[in-house]
Amino acid sequence: MPATFVIFGASGDLTSRKLIPALYKLHRKGRLKDGLRVVGFSRSPYSHEKWRDELAETTKQFAGDDFDATAWGEFAMNVFYHAGDVGHPDDFDSLAKFLNEIEEGAESPRVYYLSMAPQFYEAAAQQLGRSGLAKENGAPRRMVIEKPFGTDLASAQRLNEVIHKVFREHQVYRIDHYLGKETVQNLLVLRFANTIFEPVWNRNYIDHVQITVAEEVEIGKRAGYYDKAGVVRDMVQNHMLQLLMVTAMEPPVRYEADSIRNEKVKVLHAVRRFTPEQVHTDTFRGQYRGYTNSDEVPNTSRTATFAAMKLWVDNWRWQGVPFYLRSGKAMSCRTTQIVIQFREPPQKLFGSGALNLCESNRLVIQIQPAEGIQLHFQTKVPDAGMKLRQTDLSIDYQQEFHRAMPEAYERLLLDAVEGDASLFARADEVEAAWKVCDPVIAEWQAHDKPSLYMYDPAGWGPEECEEWMAKQDRSWFDTCPVLHSK
Ligand code: BG6
Repeated sequence: MPATFVIFGASGDLTSRKLIPALYKLHRKGRLKDGLRVVGFSRSPYSHEKWRDELAETTKQFAGDDFDATAWGEFAMNVFYHAGDVGHPDDFDSLAKFLNEIEEGAESPRVYYLSMAPQFYEAAAQQLGRSGLAKENGAPRRMVIEKPFGTDLASAQRLNEVIHKVFREHQVYRIDHYLGKETVQNLLVLRFANTIFEPVWNRNYIDHVQITVAEEVEIGKRAGYYDKAGVVRDMVQNHMLQLLMVTAMEPPVRYEADSIRNEKVKVLHAVRRFTPEQVHTDTFRGQYRGYTNSDEVPNTSRTATFAAMKLWVDNWRWQGVPFYLRSGKAMSCRTTQIVIQFREPPQKLFGSGALNLCESNRLVIQIQPAEGIQLHFQTKVPDAGMKLRQTDLSIDYQQEFHRAMPEAYERLLLDAVEGDASLFARADEVEAAWKVCDPVIAEWQAHDKPSLYMYDPAGWGPEECEEWMAKQDRSWFDTCPVLHSK
């Protein structure tokens, strides 16, 4: 039985840029075994045909070489549009009628995708409940909800409460597209399908972990949203904490949604809460020069576009191992990487040139864009006495598998259609993530501390952040990934 995928906020950017191209590619790859109907819902007045035509153009643009007119034609036959306003209950009643018509009375599984401005999430959930659209009468009803999920703990709790009045937790899929990235899923495989890493994946061998999400882009047209959110809400509370959880979690008992999510959330419960003093000493914030020239940003804005912070995971595995998180816009390149920095060898055997920490073993997991993994280790330089050099063993996804990486949304949308919530955040996970971030945001906002350092675009953030690391006898792994031409 084909499922029905309803997109609320259908005229928005995400729909044309990510959702429709991902669904179309799934169709083209034959992954939607039972077929799929797509229904767009938003205020703009479109006919089915006009929406299909517009989506054909945008999908051509965003699906690139994967666009094929015949495949698109087959897919588009099942694309529909229903105009409506989240604020108008009648529009949900007419949507319910329309869905029954196109499903011809059959009990099709449905996915309701909230891709609208977050202030409408509550109203949409309530209307889905009131109009009976959320009721599971023999067929699943799932709701996918985009980030941001709240702006702090209190608002996330409230949103969870409102949603849980209508949907049970197993029906709710909170999306974080980082979990849809192949390399993030591969981290689970690296850790739990191999035996050589797990014995050293702990405080006995690891000095610290660095998680960097650097973006070359500036804030562009999203300034209105970004200036209120800032880097912690935009990147740390969701994507970066997801990367932390997957890096630090214990092995799940089974590869299924709740086992995985149970282990992930335990990591957040173990993260030491920041006191205001620790926010001053263990967090770092910056703003790129020129940020306040963007439209919609007041020139007095103190919003951070760069953050670095040191987190402690207080459990047996990680006691005493700092996790450094760092993210920024307007950086020297786009790279998301996790660096596992191993300890120095206990004895310096080879001459006076003692190895320092950054010459010790390091595992670099390149999440994107040059997806791969490198293990760094010391090697004897031939014919040069006992001179050592750091070399690496490397796997490059593109060279190994000879294929382009699928978009994160492909995997996640397919999972939502098929009812696998493993790669979606659970209610308690989102709330626990806010508990980690709220004290930082509060202290930054209330006391404007620690200092907001300015940095030049196209670097690695404020110089002071390098000094902050150096004072801890550590240094950032500032390397842009090597990209191969496709
Ligand atoms: C989004 C943030 O969630 O993730 C953006 O709102 C950011 O600010 C984007 O640019 C990064 O995603 P990716 O997949 O390009 O790393």
